[in-house]
Amino acid sequence: MNKRIGIITAGGDAPGLNAAIRAVGKAALGSYGAEIIGFRDGFRGLAEDLRMRLDKRALSGILTVGGTVLGTGRDKPHRMEIDGQMCDMTSVIVRNYQKFGLDALVCIGGGGTHKNALRLVEAGLNVITLPKTIDNDVALTDATIGFDTALGIATEAVDRLHSTAHSHHRIIIAEIMGHRAGWLTLGAGIAGGADVVLIPEIPYDVNHIAAAIRRRSRHGTNFSIVAVAEGALSKEDSAAFAAAAKRKLNAKTKTEKQRAKTELAVLTANHSGNTLRLARQLEELTRLEARVTILGYVQRGGTPSAGDRLLATRLGTMAAELIHDKVFGVMVAARGDGVKPVPIADVAGNLKTVPPDHAWIQSAKRVGTSFGD
Ligand code: F6P
Repeated sequence: MNKRIGIITAGGDAPGLNAAIRAVGKAALGSYGAEIIGFRDGFRGLAEDLRMRLDKRALSGILTVGGTVLGTGRDKPHRMEIDGQMCDMTSVIVRNYQKFGLDALVCIGGGGTHKNALRLVEAGLNVITLPKTIDNDVALTDATIGFDTALGIATEAVDRLHSTAHSHHRIIIAEIMGHRAGWLTLGAGIAGGADVVLIPEIPYDVNHIAAAIRRRSRHGTNFSIVAVAEGALSKEDSAAFAAAAKRKLNAKTKTEKQRAKTELAVLTANHSGNTLRLARQLEELTRLEARVTILGYVQRGGTPSAGDRLLATRLGTMAAELIHDKVFGVMVAARGDGVKPVPIADVAGNLKTVPPDHAWIQSAKRVGTSFGD
């Protein structure tokens, strides 16, 4: 009997998702005549039976299209809002998987998706995942689908900001996505020639940033570009977050845990205006005008780059092959020019952050980039 494969895209969207859906589908259809069923809107589609047949026709013409034809969502199988109530839908998903006669489920997503996929693996489903996020922070893979496109978009933005910063003798701060990992900011900062790069992994001192900018002015360059990750933290904020996280970890009572959780929520809320605050601080310290550009969702939209289409096709076709070979519970990781299945259990809950001694950081420092540390 032919195999029946389910596919979902979950978490934030990223360019290249359709290329991945197409790769899994075309390879499985072509090699062993599988039937491909897409489920809309992430894990919710599995729980609420939001099915969509992905036949040859549906898979055609989507390689270059941004977003995801399946839709996506951030719902978790074990905590899904149904009619205003939080419900554990894991067993419903397992029942639906059996009811639809699926032989395998492909989940394309980032960190959250891997945690959710692991739950389904533990519930007995045959799951394979593909790493996707513009943040590039999925563990055990060299690259994630979406990063290359976002890198191009963010780099172009940094490029364009140069001429206006130069003309007005201003500091321009470009806020780039990445709450917990700085790959995108670091990559675009280096490729776009930002003067200062601020990432979550390297807490900054605003005085050091101002000193770097003033140094440029002294040498006759009275404009600067600062590339800042949305999750970049000052040294003080970083210490406050670390202390609150430690209190949460060591909490002995429910009240203590709740207090630490509230403290973390307050810190997170306060951090949301960080880039604007940084601009005001730098104006005061340097006497230069500062402006902020928040790149936001532009980084996730539109046509995937050639690199992302290629990566999605490499990973997706391997997923189809692994399903054929009955290899499950794995993420298809990119390793050099090749691909490698790695246990989902080793990926879930692990974040690939930028090591402070990473080669990209060393190169950036060698061309005079300041990290404000
Ligand atoms: O996970 C990718 C990402 O783009 C992050 O960089 C960003 O912080 C987050 O998603 C925001 O996504 P949303 O607003 O869609 O939840």
